[in-house]
Amino acid sequence: MARVWYFASRPTGIPTESNFQLRDVDLPTLSSGEVRVRNRWLSVDPYMRLRMLNINRPDYLPYRIGEPLHGGAVGKVIESQASEFAVGDRVIHSFGWRDEWVCPASALKVLPARDLPEQLFLGILGMPGLTAYVGLMHVSEIKPGETLFVSAAAGAVGSTVVQIAKLMGLTVIGSAGGIAKCEFVRSIGADAAIDYKTPGTMIDKLAAATPQGIDVYFDNVGGNHLDAALANARNRARFAMCGMISDYSSMTSDCLYNLKCIVLAHIRLQGFYSTDFPDRHHEFERDMTQWVRDGMLRIHETIRDGLESTPAALISLLEGFNVGKMLVKL
Ligand SMILES: NC(=O)c1ccc[n+]([C@@H]2O[C@H](COP(=O)([O-])OP(=O)(O)OC[C@H]3O[C@@H](n4cnc5c(N)ncnc54)[C@H](OP(=O)(O)O)[C@@H]3O)[C@@H](O)[C@H]2O)c1
Repeated sequence: MARVWYFASRPTGIPTESNFQLRDVDLPTLSSGEVRVRNRWLSVDPYMRLRMLNINRPDYLPYRIGEPLHGGAVGKVIESQASEFAVGDRVIHSFGWRDEWVCPASALKVLPARDLPEQLFLGILGMPGLTAYVGLMHVSEIKPGETLFVSAAAGAVGSTVVQIAKLMGLTVIGSAGGIAKCEFVRSIGADAAIDYKTPGTMIDKLAAATPQGIDVYFDNVGGNHLDAALANARNRARFAMCGMISDYSSMTSDCLYNLKCIVLAHIRLQGFYSTDFPDRHHEFERDMTQWVRDGMLRIHETIRDGLESTPAALISLLEGFNVGKMLVKL
């Protein structure tokens, strides 16, 4: 018997517990080529809110009402009918939101480095870390000495962006909500932190933090953060359009008043997925694993306990209560 979270109803605004339902599910006995996995860590990510929207796009996989929720997870093989996996193997897969599952061996990947804490492969050494790495190295085309602005800089992707950009010799300005988060952003190396929740406009706050303007914007938030970056962009700035969390739960979108700067300042905006650069995965794994082992990247996690807490963890992330990677520990 497994316990699985189902998508019960579509939220308006920030989800509530009523949008989720926890059910007991009978699991089958294993067929040839199948593996039984007990999950140990569940990833909690903003895209989960995005997948609750009723959008029809080719690359977009919406959650369907009445079906199980999915997400990244790390677990241990507890039974195997597949030659590729043995009992005790630590694996990563996308059958999160549940405690146990039976799946084909092809849906699993063995964790690459046994000596590192396994949950890192859902964070800095996993999808959020990959997003930060490819967004900086291959979308933004960063150069030492440039100035970068990153929004949601205290989060999983943002805090990794701050640290990689500092390793690469950039001046980094990060934005986050609240004094404590801004202190955290400075503590991981940012040259300046902007608290977007204090009075004043983002345009003025960014201009004060970087009077010469920005060369690169790593967008995790969209809305007024994007508008401020456009207004403060130098000529030929590059914008890595990673996410727009201010828009995921909101019933209205911020107006952008500075779109004309895209033309006036020759700005290049590029939307991207973490999966857009498969030929760079090896480079990502090599560099990031080395930097983590050498203590050059600081790791911060916000951990909730127990499968029951998964919806609350997602709600809490959308409300900004996480610092670093949001995880559920089973
Ligand atoms: N393109 C891709 O492949 C890809 C992959 C991973 C993530 N992403 C995107 O990257 C962004 C960050 O993801 P993450 O996993 O690192 O999440 P995260 O930053 O760890 O958590 C989300 C954070 O967003 C901030 N936030 C929420 N609502 C906001 C608002 N209205 N205005 C400003 N900030 C707000 C909150 O921080 P504050 O307290 O600072 O507000 C919250 O802690 C998201 O937009 C996500 O969709 C994209």
